[in-house]
Amino acid sequence: MAPEITILAIESSCDDTSAAVICDGFVLSNLIASQAVHIAYGGVVPELASRAHQANIVPVVDQALAKAGKRADEISAVAFTRGPGLLGSLLVGTSFAKGFALARNIPLIAVNHLQAHVMSHFALEHGRENRVPDFPFLCLLVSGGHTQLIVIRDYLSMELIGNTIDDAAGEAFDKCAKVMGLPYPGGPVIDRLASEGNPDAFHFAKPRIQGLNFSFSGLKTSFLYFLRDRLGEEPDFIEKNLKDLAASLQRTIIEILISKLVRASKETGIREIGIAGGVSANAGLRRAATHEAEKRGWNLFLPEFRYTTDNAAMIGITGYYKYLKSDFTGHDVIPAARIDT
Ligand code: KG4
Ligand code: ZN
Repeated sequence: MAPEITILAIESSCDDTSAAVICDGFVLSNLIASQAVHIAYGGVVPELASRAHQANIVPVVDQALAKAGKRADEISAVAFTRGPGLLGSLLVGTSFAKGFALARNIPLIAVNHLQAHVMSHFALEHGRENRVPDFPFLCLLVSGGHTQLIVIRDYLSMELIGNTIDDAAGEAFDKCAKVMGLPYPGGPVIDRLASEGNPDAFHFAKPRIQGLNFSFSGLKTSFLYFLRDRLGEEPDFIEKNLKDLAASLQRTIIEILISKLVRASKETGIREIGIAGGVSANAGLRRAATHEAEKRGWNLFLPEFRYTTDNAAMIGITGYYKYLKSDFTGHDVIPAARIDT
């Protein structure tokens, strides 16, 4: 029997410190320490994020190993997020991964965070039926920093076919939520409020962007001006209409996303479809994608909630497939805040 391949994975690109253990493509553990410190500031403060990663990383790795029932000397390789993300945050995970790999004399694997979000669809788990997409596979990646359409031809072979030209979908949720005085991150809060609101109550301008690209900055501005006008007439307009505002905003964002996903599927002829990234947790988006799948005969993949927002399991899964190709990196590797895919 071939020896097991056990990957320790580290994710520290933004404000979640996460460690996971992946064995032969199966997730044995996936621990996430979220940083509450940013809530008071209404957004992620990079300096505080780096400090919190520094405090969290060792305990999170210890817990991930313990939960997986693995000792450090049973790890075959260390995978870490090289970018994109906040440089100070990435440095913590990168340095830890280097130290661990050096101490145990095992390979180091650099992972692209965006590729990893897509690869979360290939995370296997024991004790459940594992359903994974066939190739080629079309994925809508929607997070706080990115909104992309990607064609996946093989595990690590991806082609970017659509991208946002300004804000990301998650940013649109977060910035509009902030304007309404809601806490950070706004996406999940809007999702909750929207479930009780009327999505047709208000209408906001949708961008006219050619091809498969996206734009969200116009929506944010239109939302801001709309509120400013209404607040002039009615100072408690937001409080009175919070649920309807959330539902209408969410509907608009979803329509923008779904219309491009439908177009991408038509243009590529691909009907193996998935969504990934933090915004893929959104109930309305999941419903809309399910509806389109039924209508268009898509084989749809919605990630488990634990794999939607940032997590190390997705880094470990990507690391596992890189390990199979001996795609290792040297110890002179440096993290990259931006990586153009
Ligand atoms: O993937 P992620 O954890 O981090 C990045 O790589 O950016 O995504 C975070 C983003 C935030 O903008 C957050 O508001 C959004 O995902 N988000 C949601 C929901 N849960 C998280 N947006 C809408 N509905 C949700 N349920
Ligand atoms: Zn992410």
